[in-house]
Amino acid sequence: MGTSRQNHDARCMDQGKQSVSAPQPATRFDVLKMTTADLAAAHALSREVNWPHRLEDWQFVLSVGEGLVAYSDDRLVGTAMWWTYEQDIARLGMVIVDPTIQRSGIGRALMLGILDRLTTPTVILNATKAGETLYRQLDFQGIGSIIQHQGASFSAPLVPLRAGERIRPMGRNDAARLIELDAIASGVRREGVIAALIENGEAVVLDDGGESVGFAFYRRFGRGHSIGPVIARDTAGAKALVAHWIGSNAGMFMRIDVPGESGLSDWLEELGLARTSHVITMIRGAMPKPSSGFHTFGIVNQALG
Ligand SMILES: CC(C)(COP(=O)(O)OP(=O)(O)OC[C@H]1O[C@@H](n2cnc3c(N)ncnc32)[C@H](O)[C@@H]1OP(=O)(O)O)[C@@H](O)C(=O)NCCC(=O)NCCS
Repeated sequence: MGTSRQNHDARCMDQGKQSVSAPQPATRFDVLKMTTADLAAAHALSREVNWPHRLEDWQFVLSVGEGLVAYSDDRLVGTAMWWTYEQDIARLGMVIVDPTIQRSGIGRALMLGILDRLTTPTVILNATKAGETLYRQLDFQGIGSIIQHQGASFSAPLVPLRAGERIRPMGRNDAARLIELDAIASGVRREGVIAALIENGEAVVLDDGGESVGFAFYRRFGRGHSIGPVIARDTAGAKALVAHWIGSNAGMFMRIDVPGESGLSDWLEELGLARTSHVITMIRGAMPKPSSGFHTFGIVNQALG
């Protein structure tokens, strides 16, 4: 695991190595900017903590964001990433420390390294149980939850559409409207993320009399496929969009991560997509503007939100 020591030392010189000596046990490590050369080792690290990400999933998150890595000698022992949306909000995620040297201060050093770099008034993350104490110590507070559902659904749900509504495949000219709907729901414009999703997956659009009023992406992720983001006006629209992907891929392993308040969890369970875990959404700084008109019913992934 890890890039060669020669590469590592060269990067320390290039990027201004931040050498950190943690109190106990005395583990020495260096914090560096993440590059694509780190991704094979980062992928191996995420497998060690049983995260399902493929190398391609790491490439996807780095293509739209930035990261730090911790190296102990020439071994990659920690990762943490961030995504800045406009001047307003940064998301933080992919925080992992090698299980053999956790509790050595590496997680905190990576978090402080990112928080030092961020200038946005709001920083948001989704915390696992393991990370929650560290984040509370860094002034993050819980504001919600994300529930992870996954499985292979064999029942094709029938969700009636309202008069005038239809579901159609995303077309070339939809990108601007998708960015707009996502911005209303999330509070920030995420052109880069939507462009990367278009590149990496498929989407369907909920059309109401010629106006696009929702969408849902479907793409390869982890052990199978992932549905999300799902943006709609209401639960009925969100269900229709999600039902499209479940119905046209019956029996395939898929995952969807939904906000606790989405109202979709019981329905997803009934369809065979079991609740497998949940994370706490935490915020540091100013609360984002509440969404109006359009809402997020499924997120891109736990890191990007
Ligand atoms: C969460 C994680 C990144 C923390 O990394 P770490 O290098 O062990 O963290 P640190 O050593 O900097 O710990 C900082 C503080 O966080 C708290 N903490 C860390 N791990 C903890 C745990 N398992 N249980 C309770 N508190 C914990 C402690 O207060 C600790 O300070 P202390 O050791 O002085 O008491 C690491 O446990 C990990 O990789 N877990 C698996 C992946 C994961 O869940 N990542 C979080 C995604 S949101």
